[in-house]
Amino acid sequence: PPVASLKSVAPFPVGAAVSINLLKTRPAYRQLMATEYNSITAENAMKFGALHPSATTYNWVDADYLVDFAQQNNMRVHGHTLLWYNSLPGWVTSFQGDSAAWENLMKTHIQTVVTHFRGKVQAWDVVNEAIDDNGNLRTTNVWRQHLGDQYIDRAFQYAHAADPAALLFYNDYGHEYSTARRTGILALVNGLKSRGVPIHGIGLQMHTSSNITDARIAEAITTAAATGLQVHVAELDISMNPSRSASATFTPALAAAQKVKYKALAQTFKALPAAQRYGITTWNVADADTWKRNDCSCPEWPLPFDDNYQRKPAYDGLVEGL
Ligand code: XIL
Repeated sequence: PPVASLKSVAPFPVGAAVSINLLKTRPAYRQLMATEYNSITAENAMKFGALHPSATTYNWVDADYLVDFAQQNNMRVHGHTLLWYNSLPGWVTSFQGDSAAWENLMKTHIQTVVTHFRGKVQAWDVVNEAIDDNGNLRTTNVWRQHLGDQYIDRAFQYAHAADPAALLFYNDYGHEYSTARRTGILALVNGLKSRGVPIHGIGLQMHTSSNITDARIAEAITTAAATGLQVHVAELDISMNPSRSASATFTPALAAAQKVKYKALAQTFKALPAAQRYGITTWNVADADTWKRNDCSCPEWPLPFDDNYQRKPAYDGLVEGL
């Protein structure tokens, strides 16, 4: 018989990123979130530009809606994200000020947001995507440009001061396909740990695809765990059209191959020490709403639910691996 839900079979939290608009307007979507998952993330509603649209205003409406939904359904809220080079409002990218003014801007944003959600958001992606493809710190990043390499240390310290109980994560992508990226990310995280910076977890975005082997994905997960931190497979989706063909279709063979990949990933994650299994979060719920379709302007089916919010073989693979 079919399982009741992902959360009923997983020995660790399983979550998804959501669109607030879909949560409000699409009953099937809302129903899946409430019944299948016990962790939730805002796909966009907690990013800098969404929460802090002008220098003097914060907009909590959508993010508070998500938090209320989570509380009604006994879900953990994973906050995404306090500091990123992307999704910044114009007032930040054009901000004129010396390093003290930039420091104040960063500190105020982090502490206002973390304080607003204290006791309601259990964990934060404090810094997102600070590493470049060469494994060094990204140069096209206003925070680093104005505040220097140590902005990351201070971002974690500010977040920790605002909510000492929150779990703090560094989140980035490419662990599974780029040794340079992975090495740079792990060096950054190990540096934070060695300096006593309050960091509790590492997020692997895992926007991955059919042309990345299961062995590479396993290596990404196990090397992240070797840091000793909690591990979050954070933005999981598995592209089955890596060549971005405009005429691709989702054949039964592709669905079966995707099932195998979801299962292998779940098995690898389940094999981690229990205390390090923070959880698995997919990036949205169903193929109908995946960001990948915009990102590649091509057909994509990367998620466990299909265009009609029905379980796919990928879902069964996840369940078999859990
Ligand atoms: C993406 C969202 O899915 C899109 O809706 C939005 O237009 C852009 O951002 N890495 C991240 C996420 O950390 O925040 C990104 O989310 C996807 C890549």
